[in-house]
Amino acid sequence: MASIVIAGDVHGAIGLFYEQALALQCALKEPIEAILQVGDLQLYSEDSHVDKAVTRHGGPGEFPQWFKEQRRAPIPTYAILGNHDDADLFYRYAGKEIVPSLHLLPQGEVVSITIGGQAIRVGALGGNYSPKYFHFAPANLSQGKRKHYTEAHIDALVAQAPFDILLTHEAPDGVVLKGGLDLGRPEIGELIRRTAPRFAFLGHHHWHTIAKMGSTTVVGLARIQKEGGMYPIHF
Ligand SMILES: [Fe+2]
Repeated sequence: MASIVIAGDVHGAIGLFYEQALALQCALKEPIEAILQVGDLQLYSEDSHVDKAVTRHGGPGEFPQWFKEQRRAPIPTYAILGNHDDADLFYRYAGKEIVPSLHLLPQGEVVSITIGGQAIRVGALGGNYSPKYFHFAPANLSQGKRKHYTEAHIDALVAQAPFDILLTHEAPDGVVLKGGLDLGRPEIGELIRRTAPRFAFLGHHHWHTIAKMGSTTVVGLARIQKEGGMYPIHF
């Protein structure tokens, strides 16, 4: 059985993120073989353009330094794109390690990851929804707009099904209900219903929740500092 931890939004606190993961590993009394992360690590380089929202949240955080020094992640980590990552930097390293042991999962692709000697198929739909760009061909998304997922990414995931785990940054509909509002996206709900992975994990809303959609267990992750920000599973 593979011991895996799913992690919520990090927002630049990458040192704390791995401190917490190593503390969790001690508490679990077993090695965590991999971390799957649902976007918004805040992957920026020193040259990246930082948007207003990131500036409001205290700037890009620690990752530019990690990137410059190519510091090694202490636990193998597989991350998707968030809307507070430098999407152009992310795309440059998609399918590769951006720093040693931190792998970036390409948008709209299913990757087979060997964890604890077991091949686990993971689908990635990072970024957020934009009504303006949803129907764009991914190749036509201009610089700065590649933080949005498109219909083509979703269709590509459906074509690559089945997979065991789906990672999305945004929520499916019916799962994150705040103040009577459903903050989730129907096209992500439809993707889960059509592909029926064993687990679907999401971040972005900083909202810990566990729900069932058909046979799929859907888990929303809080920010890593909060309860429900790190979710261990055996697979
Ligand atoms: Fe986000």
